[in-house]
Amino acid sequence: MRVFLPQDAAALALGAEAVLRALRAEAARRGVALEVVRTGSRGAVWLEPLLEVETAAGRIGYGRVRAGDVAGLFEAGLPEGGAHPLRIGRPEEHPWFAGQTRLTFARCGVVDPASAEDYAAHGGFAGLRRALSMSGEAIVDAVKLSGLRGRGGAGFPTGIKWNTVRLAEAERRYVVCNADEGDSGTFADRMLMEGDPFSLIEGMAIAGVAVGAGKGYVYTRSEYPHAVRAMRTAIVAARRAGWLGENIQGSGRSFDMEVRVGAGAYICGEETSLLNSLEGKRGVVRAKPPLPAVEGLFGRPTVVNNVLSLAAVPWIMAHGAEAYAAFGTGRSLGTLAVQIAGNVRRGGLVELPFGLPLRAVIEEWGGGTATGQPFRAVQVGGPLGAYFPESLLDTPMDYEAFAQAGGLLGHGGVTVFDTGVNLSRQARFAFEFCAAESCGKCTPCRIGAVRGVEVIDRIAAGVDVARNFAVLDDLLEVMTDASLCAMGGLTPIPVGSALKHFPQGFRRGPRHAA
Ligand code: NAI
Ligand code: SF4
Repeated sequence: MRVFLPQDAAALALGAEAVLRALRAEAARRGVALEVVRTGSRGAVWLEPLLEVETAAGRIGYGRVRAGDVAGLFEAGLPEGGAHPLRIGRPEEHPWFAGQTRLTFARCGVVDPASAEDYAAHGGFAGLRRALSMSGEAIVDAVKLSGLRGRGGAGFPTGIKWNTVRLAEAERRYVVCNADEGDSGTFADRMLMEGDPFSLIEGMAIAGVAVGAGKGYVYTRSEYPHAVRAMRTAIVAARRAGWLGENIQGSGRSFDMEVRVGAGAYICGEETSLLNSLEGKRGVVRAKPPLPAVEGLFGRPTVVNNVLSLAAVPWIMAHGAEAYAAFGTGRSLGTLAVQIAGNVRRGGLVELPFGLPLRAVIEEWGGGTATGQPFRAVQVGGPLGAYFPESLLDTPMDYEAFAQAGGLLGHGGVTVFDTGVNLSRQARFAFEFCAAESCGKCTPCRIGAVRGVEVIDRIAAGVDVARNFAVLDDLLEVMTDASLCAMGGLTPIPVGSALKHFPQGFRRGPRHAA
């Protein structure tokens, strides 16, 4: 009997190892030969651990399996995919998966993340193979044509960034993958690195070939030990299979890479802090310009891209730029990895074309609130994103529509709250978070965040409310206009949106008399 069991961090947290032990014990007791393939997650965290068994009818899934269910599963005919209350059928036919558009995450939860051969057998390396036969300029043109924009949050066109690096005068260039996923409620980078690390390796190698860089680094955080292990194992396997290193597949092109682990400061996800940290310096933001694309790692032109931007490229190279650009809407083309978290019944990652309304994500995939209490607010884009009320739930999930509504799509994190949430406490938390994570380089952020906590506390205590609301308005303006990076510059978004859409959550002052 061949089974597939995720070893993704979410599945492990939900008891995958205990399930494995129970499977081994029960199979031994029954004399059933057992082969276990440890996969990543397909993204349905609400179904983890999702155990799958290979049958004549394809892979059959059983969701939310606990160790105590294993004997019953065998009793129900697990090896043949027998009927059982936990059986979900073929995962790809389950409505939660079938309604998605899986491009970047197509192989996640399906393949063995340690096997380059399995990756290739599922269509992997086709994009790199094609890129190896093309000029750097032609690869960059294809990425431009695809409309791919930076998935880390800012949405800058990836092809334009690559072209800047390609054309910069230098003896040496680098590719750096920003895998320092720090936004609360986001886990797409981790999930991809744990479940399909070769797609990131392939994307980085294509970037290296395109811009003429020989070396790449994946910068991730110490909180992601499983991702670090999966990436390192896959890099060794890719090198052994001739997809990394000197003279890749006899093409004459060379590219190699390694993983570097940071200590977990949120600000090291900001690209210039990240580069400082990678160079062994303190993670402090650098002034831009110069852009990293011109003067990046060790002063050389550097592509700094998020995991998902790089991992989207193999699909684009394998299937064509036009095919990718056919998904999405307006200037937001391709797919977005939406991470549904917070107070929802069905948390997890869904990959969807840009443009679907936020409401569909929360209601259709998220299944509404876990508590059953009415919906109150949703924060999209991590801790620096806006809080949206019910009236904004029809906002399409694309960069421009979100900006127009006063929010940001960011890295695609969606955190849902029911009526139990206190929005003034959330606004205070935004300042508190900024104060804790500020690198301290510029005054509006370093001092403004601390003053922000104090002002919110004074308003909550009813002290000089009108004056303190005026101070708060000033503070938000100064932080927005004068902070050196997005940390201080975007903190006013969660605070301002909470004030605007949920004024009743703040102490009533003259501001709300009307
Ligand atoms: P940015 O808009 O300054 O830059 C975006 C990217 O484009 C950078 O890599 C920059 O170097 C590059 N770029 C800009 N102009 C260029 C040009 N002419 N040529 C070549 N490259 C160019 O935004 P920033 O500060 O890098 O990121 C802010 C975003 O990060 C926010 O919108 C937020 O959503 C997101 N964020 C994501 C987090 C995560 O965990 N993924 C955490 C915190 C924030
Ligand atoms: Fe550092 Fe904050 Fe200024 Fe960014 S805004 S440079 S995190 S002090």
